[in-house]
Amino acid sequence: MANEESAPRAKLWGGRFSQPTNELVDRLNASLPFDRRLARQDISGSIAHARMLTRQGIIGEADGAAIESGLRTILGEVESGNYTFRIEDEDIHMSVERRLGELIGAPSGRLHTGRSRNDQIALDFRLWTRDAIVDIAGGVVNFIGAFLAVAEKYPDTILPGYTHLQRAQPVLLAHHFLAYVEMLFRDLDRLRDAYRRVNRSPLGAGALAGSTYPVDPQFVADLLGFDGLCVNSLDAVSDRDFVLDLLVACSQLMMHLSRLAEELVIWSTAEFGFLELADAFATGSSIMPQKKNPDVAELIRGKTGRVYGHLMGMLTTAKGLPLSYNKDLQEDKEGLFDTVDTVTLILQVLPPMLETATFRSERMLTAAGGGFSLATDIADHLVRTGLPFREAHEIVGRIVGYCVEQGKDFPDLTVDEWRSFSPVLADSPPPMTPREGIAARNMPGGTGDKSVAAARNVAQSELDRWIGWLDERQAAHDTVVARLEVEEPERDTIQAD
Ligand code: ARG
Repeated sequence: MANEESAPRAKLWGGRFSQPTNELVDRLNASLPFDRRLARQDISGSIAHARMLTRQGIIGEADGAAIESGLRTILGEVESGNYTFRIEDEDIHMSVERRLGELIGAPSGRLHTGRSRNDQIALDFRLWTRDAIVDIAGGVVNFIGAFLAVAEKYPDTILPGYTHLQRAQPVLLAHHFLAYVEMLFRDLDRLRDAYRRVNRSPLGAGALAGSTYPVDPQFVADLLGFDGLCVNSLDAVSDRDFVLDLLVACSQLMMHLSRLAEELVIWSTAEFGFLELADAFATGSSIMPQKKNPDVAELIRGKTGRVYGHLMGMLTTAKGLPLSYNKDLQEDKEGLFDTVDTVTLILQVLPPMLETATFRSERMLTAAGGGFSLATDIADHLVRTGLPFREAHEIVGRIVGYCVEQGKDFPDLTVDEWRSFSPVLADSPPPMTPREGIAARNMPGGTGDKSVAAARNVAQSELDRWIGWLDERQAAHDTVVARLEVEEPERDTIQAD
């Protein structure tokens, strides 16, 4: 750990102990190496708690003021990188409390009144998680913006649509992108849902059973911008489903990004040749000079496994834990930190990678016309003349079989050949180009150019609504920061309950 000092010191909870903690136990027990990341949240939570204690007359005003100003000094030290984290302080809560004692002396001993590290960590981690959710949602919103921009750049590009990775029916590239946009909107919805549940304050639950002081948890919750309180003290200190909610949302998001990544890998092969990544977003080989590898996409695919792993890890940690708090719960942090870091970086790299890639429209169109991809359209054409679909399917199936045998494609067939399968096909020629296939599908949700243009507009409006949600959350966050920055007003200006 940076700035670490190792002189053995007494524990804040050392009263009932007569031996110092074994050094290995310190190493195993300490969460400070990773929960130092929660320093800001811990200090904000403590400022809110101290104000509540003062307001309720649980601690004196002078002590409350000293505590708040000491905490503010510590926040300054943390933000300027001048704070010393010592592993023997065990966790961020005791680290801050210890430093407060160094700065203000005796009054620091009153801060932990009516609070436990159990409700304190639940608070800190909820504060951190709700910010992380907004950051990730911001990344998803950006990426959707990039998709819409690329869809606009290639409005007429047609590529083969696949099922079973076999050419199926032509689709617009914009339609393909808009499929991902839909997935990402659902990811945003999951994130917002996770936000709704995480944004409740657990402070006041104490160790597990509440507290014997006349505390005002609602005051703390309002100050910190929570939408409400955790209702049950045992639940408040012991459940981590808010961690799981974000891990699930990130896992599904990564699953979607991994599918996209797989397509980028396939499309950038010489065999497909649908796509060329910009040099800045590709990598070379140390031995094969000709290589240009889609490492970024492969890493997105690969890192999905790591995010799922964190989800499995947390599910497994949480299972079978008796109520209420158990130290196992300390294992909730590193997996979520790593998940958020991983997803955040990926969401930063994806938009410029997509926007700088070159999509090879000619190559895609050629591929879209092959593989008898208009077969369904020809069957539909027969149905429009009155044939039952099953019969039409059978006829076109026979035509495909014939073509395969003859080494021909639909456009190579003569009028007589068409007639030999169905006179209708000789008299009124069926659609044979990908563009006809596209144009015939202007129905809601279809790949027709009009449908896709409309869908793009709808997606843009939906995106604007999400930007509105982000702005609103950012404003709420700024309000909390501003509120905590303002010194607590004089006690007599606050109405008593
Ligand atoms: N470091 C602990 C955690 O992350 C904080 C709560 C500790 N509580 C306790 N009773 N030891 O969960």
